[in-house]
Amino acid sequence: MIPTVEWKDGIVRMLDQTKLPIEIVYNECKDYQTVARGIKELWVRGAPAIGVSAAMGLALGARQIKADTFETFWPQFEEICSHMAATRPTAVNLFWAIDSIKRFVQQNKDKSLDTLREMLVVESQRMHDEDIATNRKMGAFGAAFVADGDNLITHCNAGSIATAGYGTAEGVMRAAVEAGKKIHVYVDETRPVLQGARLTAWELMEEKIPCTLITDNMAGYFMFRDMVDLAIVGADRIAKNGDVANKIGTYGLAVLCKEHGIPFYVAAPFSTIDFNTESGADIPIEERDPREVTHVFGKVQIAPDKVKVANPAFDVTPARYITAIITEKGAFHPRDLHKLADPAVDTEKLRIK
Ligand code: MRU
Repeated sequence: MIPTVEWKDGIVRMLDQTKLPIEIVYNECKDYQTVARGIKELWVRGAPAIGVSAAMGLALGARQIKADTFETFWPQFEEICSHMAATRPTAVNLFWAIDSIKRFVQQNKDKSLDTLREMLVVESQRMHDEDIATNRKMGAFGAAFVADGDNLITHCNAGSIATAGYGTAEGVMRAAVEAGKKIHVYVDETRPVLQGARLTAWELMEEKIPCTLITDNMAGYFMFRDMVDLAIVGADRIAKNGDVANKIGTYGLAVLCKEHGIPFYVAAPFSTIDFNTESGADIPIEERDPREVTHVFGKVQIAPDKVKVANPAFDVTPARYITAIITEKGAFHPRDLHKLADPAVDTEKLRIK
């Protein structure tokens, strides 16, 4: 497992995932503006990884603020938070991380600013480490749904590098393998940015988990021939009613699964559940640069000049297509998700066993 993002000697190092799998390059961010640029330009992408990067970016930002008192520090810090929040709209982990850090700052406003700045570095590191622990728990719950010999299918990249480490959907695969199960994974290439081909296939090969890369339009072919046992994907935002926003193409995969009677699982931490969003219709969907569609890696043109392009980066899979949502607190039926908004609820009782 290589680090996705790390704090080193006052610098945030982000793995430049746009260069994978050809090169392993880390971009060094000395200010919050560079971290924000890195999130926007997909150096680090994947909902949990975006959240952790933002937290580290805010710790950098706090060091850039010139202030003598908390009263002059706070409005500048809020501006930095807004700058960070404007990077990508769909993955709720970004807003979750920013809100957590803001709360943390408010809770510690009686400390000296220098102490507070140091505490923010420690706190962002804690969020980083907590994300890995969360993924391991999720993996353990999810592995129970994977049988020895299963053929899985996945979309996009919900691997180690989409998180602080270990991965969500890929964490489940990893945990199944660690439990001694033999699995094989069909990897959707995931047009237009190719997170499946460039990142998931690469990560699975590094982990020696057998996989076959397919183009997105081949999934039905393999399902029709009974060659897929289950689908598992990550999520960018899960609404209160269990609808899931994930990489564009996820919805189509889920519909195909329903048609073929194949279970469709979503693995995501609680920080991806947005209890303030009632349904998928309320989830903002990022529209990205048309060049991602008309060019391969912004270089090789594959469409006519000036062609009209749509490039929504995510779609919403309605809850009715989802077999279970696997979290660090267990796996739940999407229809029960809203009950988890109450922190006092007995999650054990709601868990799918
Ligand atoms: O545009 P991306 O690469 O950030 O999209 C990522 C996804 O859609 C992932 O499936 C999702 O964030 C889950 S990552 C554990």
